[in-house]
Amino acid sequence: MELFFKMPSTEARKAMCDASLELGNRVRSNEFKKTAEESIKKITNHEHARVLGSGNAAIMAAMSTMKGSVMIPDQGGWSGFQKIAEFYGLEVVHIPTVMGVIQPETLEEHLKTKSPESLFLTSFAGYMVEQPVKDIYEICEDNGIILVEDASGSVGDPERNLACGDHSHIIVASTGSPKIINLGNGGFISTNNPRIFNDASFILKTLQSSPVTCAGLVEEIKKAPLNLIKTIEACEFLKKKIETVLHPDKRGINIAIPHDDPKKIGQALRSTLKVEGGGMISTCPRYDRMNQPGVCLEIKNLDIQCLKKDNLLEIAGIIANILDNPFNNE
Ligand SMILES: Cc1ncc(COP(=O)(O)O)c(C=O)c1O
Repeated sequence: MELFFKMPSTEARKAMCDASLELGNRVRSNEFKKTAEESIKKITNHEHARVLGSGNAAIMAAMSTMKGSVMIPDQGGWSGFQKIAEFYGLEVVHIPTVMGVIQPETLEEHLKTKSPESLFLTSFAGYMVEQPVKDIYEICEDNGIILVEDASGSVGDPERNLACGDHSHIIVASTGSPKIINLGNGGFISTNNPRIFNDASFILKTLQSSPVTCAGLVEEIKKAPLNLIKTIEACEFLKKKIETVLHPDKRGINIAIPHDDPKKIGQALRSTLKVEGGGMISTCPRYDRMNQPGVCLEIKNLDIQCLKKDNLLEIAGIIANILDNPFNNE
């Protein structure tokens, strides 16, 4: 079995090469920028969009418009939320979750005593499991809280539960590697609220991406829905084969397996599941995934061409074997 780390598509790489030959041409640069913004607006259903240098740049731009405290999940978020809030001197409030998933009733309860200005979350908690974004949005709307959805793992959701501007005040995403819009660099921010882009106009300009990124994004965004669908399907298949998997019945783009010796299991998995050009194993506890010990198989890191049934069966077999006999691989 050969496993490959995700690479930007040939079309995106070609578009970026061609655009690099036009650097300095203002008219063409503006065209690349506008076309990329249009493609983001189309996929998020938001009215305003900007392509920025990275996902963290998009989070920085979003937070630059805020003065009040920032609510984030107690696990399964993105560590940048906390770091960037600290950078701006904003207070951070944690909302308890059930293994990363925000429970609407817990959120409602918490909002009786806390009044954050915003709630930052990732569409898939820890990439493992989808958040009930629509329900969370309703509660945020009722309480005057800005919901910022980091959709790095969910752009192009065919169910339109995630990364959908109808129920997120602001969407931010990384288009770096390995992501669902897998461009190798860049990010974006989108919203329906013109005030946010007005207030952030200077930082949006400061953190803007190059026209080369914009040209690549236009091509890579076309691949996002299939990229996401195939990754979710592969995880669904694997979740049925691994007994101890977390969130067995929910959509996700990686596989989390709690285990009390993550170092040992992680090492064994890394030495068996080799990925050309990168890796696919992360170990926990880790804020960006789950707070308990375990390993994550980052299926989202793999080229979707590798996610064939034969390979998935082989991966499931390897995992079962290692979980049963972790010491055989020393
Ligand atoms: C969920 C999530 N958000 C944001 C980022 C930051 O993106 P960037 O590296 O483009 O700044 C990452 C990076 O891995 C991420 O996983």
